[in-house]
Amino acid sequence: MAAELPIPVFTSLDQALPDLKTAAAELIRYTNLVDEYTQRFGHKPTYIARAPGRVNLIGEHIDYVLFGAFPAAVERDILIACGPSVSSASPPEPSSPGSVNAHNLDAKYAPQAFAPMLKNAGPTDVEKADADATVHAESAWHLDINTRELRWESYVKAGYYGVLNHFFSQPGQNGHPVPVDLLFTGSVPSGSGLSSSAAMVVASTLAFLAVNEKVNGLTKGKLVEMAMENEKRAGVNSGGLDQAASVICTPHSAIYVTFFPSLAAEPIPLPTPRTTPKAVFVCANSLVVSDKLVSAKYHYNLRVVETLVGARVLARRLGISLTDSERPTFRVILARWLGTDEANFSVEHLKAGIERFLPEVEKLRPAREGHEAGEEGVTMAEMIEWSGLSPEQFNQVYLSWVEVEATYFQLYKRARHVFAEALRVLEFRDVCLRAQDEFVPEDTLAALGALMDASHESCSTLYDCSCPEVDVLVRIAKDAGAYGSRVTGAGWGGCTVSLVAEDKVEEFIGKVKAQYAPYKDLTEEKLREAIFATKPSAGAFILKLDD
Ligand code: GLA
Repeated sequence: MAAELPIPVFTSLDQALPDLKTAAAELIRYTNLVDEYTQRFGHKPTYIARAPGRVNLIGEHIDYVLFGAFPAAVERDILIACGPSVSSASPPEPSSPGSVNAHNLDAKYAPQAFAPMLKNAGPTDVEKADADATVHAESAWHLDINTRELRWESYVKAGYYGVLNHFFSQPGQNGHPVPVDLLFTGSVPSGSGLSSSAAMVVASTLAFLAVNEKVNGLTKGKLVEMAMENEKRAGVNSGGLDQAASVICTPHSAIYVTFFPSLAAEPIPLPTPRTTPKAVFVCANSLVVSDKLVSAKYHYNLRVVETLVGARVLARRLGISLTDSERPTFRVILARWLGTDEANFSVEHLKAGIERFLPEVEKLRPAREGHEAGEEGVTMAEMIEWSGLSPEQFNQVYLSWVEVEATYFQLYKRARHVFAEALRVLEFRDVCLRAQDEFVPEDTLAALGALMDASHESCSTLYDCSCPEVDVLVRIAKDAGAYGSRVTGAGWGGCTVSLVAEDKVEEFIGKVKAQYAPYKDLTEEKLREAIFATKPSAGAFILKLDD
């Protein structure tokens, strides 16, 4: 399985990048980073850690519910040159264990220096948010992360956390973390839905692992788990989609990634029809910056809570018994309703199971007189009543670990999106798999496009995670000839992804540029950053540099 493979460590760039043309172009970027590092820190780096952004082709906002999604890594990435700090003092002065100098090639991100501290810890917020987490009550490493404000070093610290607490939990017995110098550069636009935050956290986690010589024996799956746990420390309760894509993807393929009963990923090559033109994915940035950290309490984290409460209420209406402290997701409720043995549950069974379950979602529909049924949400008081918990228990289980703000909570609409989207992912996977044989059905691209369109409609109207600009961009893309087009990533701004015939890409991009008003005043360079065709790229790796 793809998640069981070791983290790749390469010794030359042409091993790491899929074709020599890409390697040659990237060489300039890597060499520049190494030179700049050497100049700033007075010594050469020992490694470069690299993690790509991702584009999610379909399966939005269902990873934290534990349903599968279908992402691919993009060519845009974060690179970190890293190595142990060398004190310039003579004789060398001891630095505090694990202290960090983090610089960024982009001058708008000021250099940062920080050191972790050992503290006696109770359960952390991350552990409280994870109902299944083992709670560590002993001493733990601590780094101050400001979750109220967007700060670039928060992701670096988040990446460091897991490495410290997994590998140096008993200082003295398992050694001390080494002081580290880091230099970052990145090409994933932030707040664009292409997962710059996961790329930052994955690359940072890798850099700290590499410099502390802890990479040996680690699987990609373990790195995904660490990066997921680490990113939650920055304040968003995201699922594992971004980290899995950034770590596990390989060139030419997307992955069907699932999270239940545990992380698993299946690389699925995208179809290359012979009878119809080949297609590529085009990312277009709406230029509405949507940072999920900043808006978490009205958007992302609110959706996490709505789906969790929805799952409890639905379970009760289906006669599934739950303990008061349980916090199951929709995927778990489906498994209990089906009464299945998850370890031996095929994709075909899952698909049939979702199809049978879909009508049950209606049990969440709030029927109120004078309103169109299902249109409006429920208040906090109604939610608590429907959950069958006391207000104190409800608060403890659903709200004590997260901050959310809403007058009405939309349990029914969110559930409809989740189950239908989970089914669309499986259909998308089927279409791709059918297109691997000699004979590729002629309507393959149209079928994929239709699923993407339906996904966008659902994101926009049921999950309310689009925005007017993104909806306009999707419509323009469709008019410009895309087989399908949709918001990708968390949404509320950011990028769309469109499936476009390869021989029509230039024409397609030209039409979108001309019609999407916010692109009108952009320079050519900014436009190239805003709208671009992308190929599934390599996942994260470490490049070991010569001494
Ligand atoms: C963000 C999160 C992911 C996923 C997507 C929506 O990118 O980090 O875990 O939930 O939103 O699909």
